[in-house]
Amino acid sequence: PTRLGIISALAEEQEGLIQAMQHAERHVHGMREYTVGNLWKVDTVAVLSRIGKVAAAMTATTLVERFGVTHILFTGVAGSADANVRVGDVVIAESLVQHDMDASPLFPRFDVPLTGLSHLPSDLGLSSRLAGAASTFLDSENGATLHRGLIGSGDQFINDGMRLAALKSALPGLLAVEMEGAAVAQVCFELGIPFAVIRTISDNANEDAATDFMAFVKTVASRYAFGIIEKFCRN
Ligand code: ADE
Repeated sequence: PTRLGIISALAEEQEGLIQAMQHAERHVHGMREYTVGNLWKVDTVAVLSRIGKVAAAMTATTLVERFGVTHILFTGVAGSADANVRVGDVVIAESLVQHDMDASPLFPRFDVPLTGLSHLPSDLGLSSRLAGAASTFLDSENGATLHRGLIGSGDQFINDGMRLAALKSALPGLLAVEMEGAAVAQVCFELGIPFAVIRTISDNANEDAATDFMAFVKTVASRYAFGIIEKFCRN
């Protein structure tokens, strides 16, 4: 049997999903609330990780070790790191990098030490299913585009054009920046759990990022997450 774990950092990114769950049971563990139930007939555990790599790693580990999930989706918002990726677009990770990891000169910059990996791959099958759901959903959102590629995660809200430019030149192909995905990726890699990360772009990781983020996360983020995950679970 399979059981889906769904993680978002903030309540706004997951609104509606908990209410849509049937036979929902809440369990508190490690200062988080895990809701177990059926989401369009899919056995699901939904949880808010809060922000940052450690919070996300703790949450993903608990989902697997305590709640027995067999695969994980992370859904939320991100800042754009590419001129072609616009606010309102959706990015699905092909791989994820911890952009603030730097154990050089002991290990190459971005390598997760002793794993031999900097770019942690997401599960292709799960990501493709999610991409199918996302493009069906986006067909009804005028002009929004779906992108697939590299997402960078770090314990920093990026709101500085210079900082973003430096990251982009160090990480070719970088599409978006956020604060959790690559932590979930490392946990899932180590535990052998398939996972996918989907992010709606809320801002351009520049000097306007905080204002744009606040506006967007309230108005759009939850509607996108709900619409795409509904399509994902129903098919
Ligand atoms: N999540 C959404 N926007 C972000 C940004 N600019 N930096 C980091 N995480 C984000």
